[in-house]
Amino acid sequence: MGAKLQQKTVVVTGASSGIGRAAALEFARREANLVLAARRGELLETIAKECRALGAGCKIVVTDVSQRADCEHLIDMAGSVDVLVNNAGFAIFDAIESARPGDLTSMMQTNYFGTVWCTQAVLPQMLARGNGTIVNVASIAGIMGYARMGGYCATKFAVIGFSETLRDEVLSRGVRVAMVCPGTVETDFFEKAERGKMPGASRLIMAIKPEKVARAIANAAEDGRYRRILPLGASMFMRLKELLPRLAHILMRRVSAVMETKS
Ligand SMILES: NC(=O)c1ccc[n+]([C@@H]2O[C@H](COP(=O)([O-])OP(=O)(O)OC[C@H]3O[C@@H](n4cnc5c(N)ncnc54)[C@H](OP(=O)(O)O)[C@@H]3O)[C@@H](O)[C@H]2O)c1
Repeated sequence: MGAKLQQKTVVVTGASSGIGRAAALEFARREANLVLAARRGELLETIAKECRALGAGCKIVVTDVSQRADCEHLIDMAGSVDVLVNNAGFAIFDAIESARPGDLTSMMQTNYFGTVWCTQAVLPQMLARGNGTIVNVASIAGIMGYARMGGYCATKFAVIGFSETLRDEVLSRGVRVAMVCPGTVETDFFEKAERGKMPGASRLIMAIKPEKVARAIANAAEDGRYRRILPLGASMFMRLKELLPRLAHILMRRVSAVMETKS
C-alpha cells in the first residue's frame, strides 16, 4: 500500500448518490478530510453529516461538473487537495440511430468534460507540490463498446484515453492517475440508463454493491495503481476483449441474440 489517507483532503464529485456516496463514507472511515460535490445540496448535506459522524472533517460544495467555472470554484473551496475522485456521471442508453443529440452532448459534458475541468483545476497545485492522486471512475463501457450504449461508451472511452495520457505526462512529477472501471453497480444510475437496453450477454455479469466500488476507489487513492476492473467476471471478459477483440464482440453479439430472442 502507498500513502495512507488520514488527514488527507479528498474531493469526491458525484457524492450525492450511489458510488460517490459510498466512496465518501469509505474515505471517512479511513479518516480523510472530505470535500463533497454534486448538484443536489440537500443530499450532500445529509451525506456530510454521516461522514462527520464517522469522525471525518467534511464540507460540501454544490457543483455542476459540466460547468468549468463550477469545477474551478470547487477546487478553490477545497484548498490543498491530496486526492481528486472524478466520479460524477450518468447515462442514457439508446441506439446510435435514435439517440437524441442533446443526450449525447450532455453525457459528454458531464462524464468527460467534468473530469477534464476538475483535473485541470487541481493539476497546477499538485504539480507544484510534486504529489497528489487523481482517481477517475470510468467503466468497462470505456474498454468495450456495447450495443445501445454508444453515447455513454464514447464518454468513458474518452475518460480512459484522457487518464492514460495524463498518467504518462505527470507520473514522473509525483502525480498519480488511477482508473476504476466497474461493471454493473446497484445504484440510481439505472433510473435514467434503463438496464433493459443493455445487450443481453452484458447482463450476465452480476451487479455489485457501490460499497465494493468505493473500496476499490479508496484503495486506488492509496496505491495509485493504473487500473482496477471489477468484479472478477468483468475483469476476465475485459482481458479477453483486449487480447482478442473480435472474439469478444462475436461472443457478445451471439449470446445477446440468443438471450434477447428468449426474453
Ligand atoms: N452504476 C453502474 O452500473 C456504473 C457502472 C460503471 C461506472 N459507473 C459510473 O459511476 C459513476 C457514478 O454513478 P452511480 O452508479 O453512482 O450513479 P448515481 O447513483 O446516479 O450517481 C451519480 C452521481 O453523479 C452526480 N452527477 C450527475 N451529473 C452531475 C453534474 N452535472 N455535476 C455534478 N454531479 C453530477 C449525481 O449528483 P447530482 O444529481 O446531485 O448532481 C450523483 O451524485 C458515474 O460516472 C458512472 O458512469 C456506474
